[in-house]
Amino acid sequence: MVTTQPIGIFDSGYGGLTVMKEIVRKLPQYDYIYLGDNARAPYGNRSFETVYRYTLQCVEWFFQKGCPLVILACNTASAKALRTIQQNDLPQLAPSNRVLGVIRPTTEIIGNFTRSRKIGVLATNGTVQSGSYLIEIEKFFPDITVYQEACPMWVPIVENNEHTQPGADYFVKKHVQQIMLANKEIDTLLLACTHYPLLRDKITQFLPAGVSVVSQGEIVANSLGDYLKRHTELEIRCSKNGHRAFYTTDSTEDFDNHASIFFGQAIHSSHVDLDSNIPVADHI
Ligand code: DGL
Repeated sequence: MVTTQPIGIFDSGYGGLTVMKEIVRKLPQYDYIYLGDNARAPYGNRSFETVYRYTLQCVEWFFQKGCPLVILACNTASAKALRTIQQNDLPQLAPSNRVLGVIRPTTEIIGNFTRSRKIGVLATNGTVQSGSYLIEIEKFFPDITVYQEACPMWVPIVENNEHTQPGADYFVKKHVQQIMLANKEIDTLLLACTHYPLLRDKITQFLPAGVSVVSQGEIVANSLGDYLKRHTELEIRCSKNGHRAFYTTDSTEDFDNHASIFFGQAIHSSHVDLDSNIPVADHI
């Protein structure tokens, strides 16, 4: 029996925890469950069809856990699966539930960060190829020119806990230099992947002075707070006991050892087998 109606937060792996950390800080009263699909991460190089299928399966799991609202705290899933889920699946699965992503909240505010009106977007291959940031930023800020750079090695570096090691420097420097070559007037770099905040120090190290680095956690948290104020019919359905529960599709031991780096607190996760869709244990 479902006793709570938590807000669901989803990512392919650990990256969404950087967003959850800010959401929990801003809106501590709600119950939350996090699911990392670590067994199938990274999503960044996978096809539209695969990312959509995996994401939908996870969204259905969240609905079974009683979540009225699910945040896709993953740019790749937001770029490749969100629209289809919102338009095609949600009306049949659970018409009064909502699924939101991280691209819209970011693009509607990114214009406030740049003076030169030239920004760089660093993201996974999937997000870059989707063109979602180009399309969405153009809608809100047609005067901004957007340059994109895919950084396919960054998620594996972070997922494998190599992000503070000297070996990471090569790939960080390569992509930071590459995007700055696109236009030397770029004054804002958007980390359009929820894993990338862990590379922030290294990214800054290879950037010219005066270029600011924007990550999404706080932006998404503020946007969610506004959304819940505007949608009281959904807000009253979200339970408020301050519970947090964490699930992974892979090893809980690995998840617990690694996830605290992203979340900033110790985490005790439960395993979930999405194929049978039966959670082994429930910490709520
Ligand atoms: N955190 C995901 C994102 O924001 C990483 C995607 C992946 O698994 O490659 O795009």
